[in-house]
Amino acid sequence: MIDSKAEIIVVKTAADVVTRAAQIFSEAAEKAIAERGQFLVALSGGSTPRGLYELLGSETWRNRIKWDAVHLFWSDERAVAPRDKDSNYGMAHEALMAHISIPAANVHRMKAERASESDAAARRAAEDYAREMRGVFKLSDTQVPRFDLILLGMGADGHTASLFPGTRAVNEQAKLVAGVYVEKLNSTRLTLTFPVINHAARVLFLVTGADKAACLQEVLHSESNASTKYPVQLVKPLNGKLTWLIDSAAAQSLNLR
Ligand code: 6PG
Repeated sequence: MIDSKAEIIVVKTAADVVTRAAQIFSEAAEKAIAERGQFLVALSGGSTPRGLYELLGSETWRNRIKWDAVHLFWSDERAVAPRDKDSNYGMAHEALMAHISIPAANVHRMKAERASESDAAARRAAEDYAREMRGVFKLSDTQVPRFDLILLGMGADGHTASLFPGTRAVNEQAKLVAGVYVEKLNSTRLTLTFPVINHAARVLFLVTGADKAACLQEVLHSESNASTKYPVQLVKPLNGKLTWLIDSAAAQSLNLR
């Protein structure tokens, strides 16, 4: 069941989702930079975010954001080289980073390319990323980073980031980052865990397309059976704002008053 405090915004098309998301991104950046001098954001992979990154990197949008005060992280990554077509970093690089001027030191790629070699390699890659976050956020070993914004998508199977139904990472409470083997995709991923996602100041879901409609209807309206069925239902920022930004195709089965 949806958190009653969640904001649900339904717009007509996927292009409208992208435009609204760019507004939310730039407002969140402006606010965080005014308050603390930096904007700490985690990007996701997926087709809708690609449109958002392209828009943010476009001539009209790119100068609205002080990129030198932005730190880019990722909510998940596949075990592939950074320029591989399946890399979330590679996608964001092509769509966004290649078009803006952001210091290289502000781009914190998840280095997942060796994570498929062994469980130990996946664990090391996850620990390295947790250490990198702790360094940038200036945290002790027990503190959890508070992102200004985490962008997420939802798969038609109810996964988010790389927190897939039935995987151990869904129940991770101690680690900030987990390595995950996703059997049905025969693919190894790194992912932020729920303690990090739920500690963010703002979480923004981008959901588009009719193939998401049935799952979205269950996720938002049915009782939670999250750890077994829909991990996405475990997204409940403790002291932050949750926004679902949805196009009309994905929202077609929702009962919104
Ligand atoms: C990934 C993503 C993943 C994605 C969903 C939705 O790396 O695959 O981070 O969690 O957000 O699968 O993807 P779409 O928006 O492309 O449907």
